[in-house]
Amino acid sequence: MKKRSEIAKHISSLCSSLWVRHYISSKIKTDPLYEGVYLELKDSKRPLMDIGSGMAILAFYLREKDWSNPVTAIDYDERKIEAGNLLIQKGGYQGITLERGDARESLPTHQGDVTILDILQFFQKTDQIKLLELAAENVAPGAKLLIRSGIKERNFRFFITWVVDVFAKCSFWMKAAPTYYPTKETFEGVFGKEGFDLEIRPFWGNTPFNNYLVVIKKLK
Ligand SMILES: C[S@@+](CC[C@H](N)C(=O)[O-])C[C@H]1O[C@@H](n2cnc3c(N)ncnc32)[C@H](O)[C@@H]1O
Repeated sequence: MKKRSEIAKHISSLCSSLWVRHYISSKIKTDPLYEGVYLELKDSKRPLMDIGSGMAILAFYLREKDWSNPVTAIDYDERKIEAGNLLIQKGGYQGITLERGDARESLPTHQGDVTILDILQFFQKTDQIKLLELAAENVAPGAKLLIRSGIKERNFRFFITWVVDVFAKCSFWMKAAPTYYPTKETFEGVFGKEGFDLEIRPFWGNTPFNNYLVVIKKLK
């Protein structure tokens, strides 16, 4: 099984832009995100839908881990779709569909596991709840909805999370600035009921951000 550093080197080597190469390499090496999601999904035999996938780096990471389930990745940023599809070609990655879609409007038809990673902050509170409910409809019984998000709390980690998201917008890396950060109650309100098993755990790794991994299992 490949190490994180080897995966980072390989995926980033597929990029022609020096900046993107550096971004992907350091993201994979320093952020616990993709490895954490892999550990949650590794025994799943179901297809995955990744909502707000960016260039679909998660999907590439999963392939490098020999995880071969079909992946549908959607994002509303044309530039990322184009760049990601080039990486799919260059990397020879099979079974990954990366297409344009606005999660505010609709989602592709899907039954399986679902991921929503680092995108909720771009949605208003009511849109977040709508997206969470819509995503839950696409989770098959026994499957998981995995969410990584900065969570609004009164601490320095939260401040850093907000500053970096604002910087990402100012540097044009993101199309939008952060609008509203969910609280733990946001998730408890949607999933703290019969039919779901909800776990919210800190997901900081060595990063300074106030990120949590929210694991929702749809009960059979
Ligand atoms: C911080 S990036 C995270 C990318 C990816 N999930 C990851 O963790 O590698 C947030 C992504 O959400 C996308 N996004 C924001 N609002 C969206 C929407 N309404 N529909 C689809 N994608 C959206 C952005 O274009 C961006 O690629």
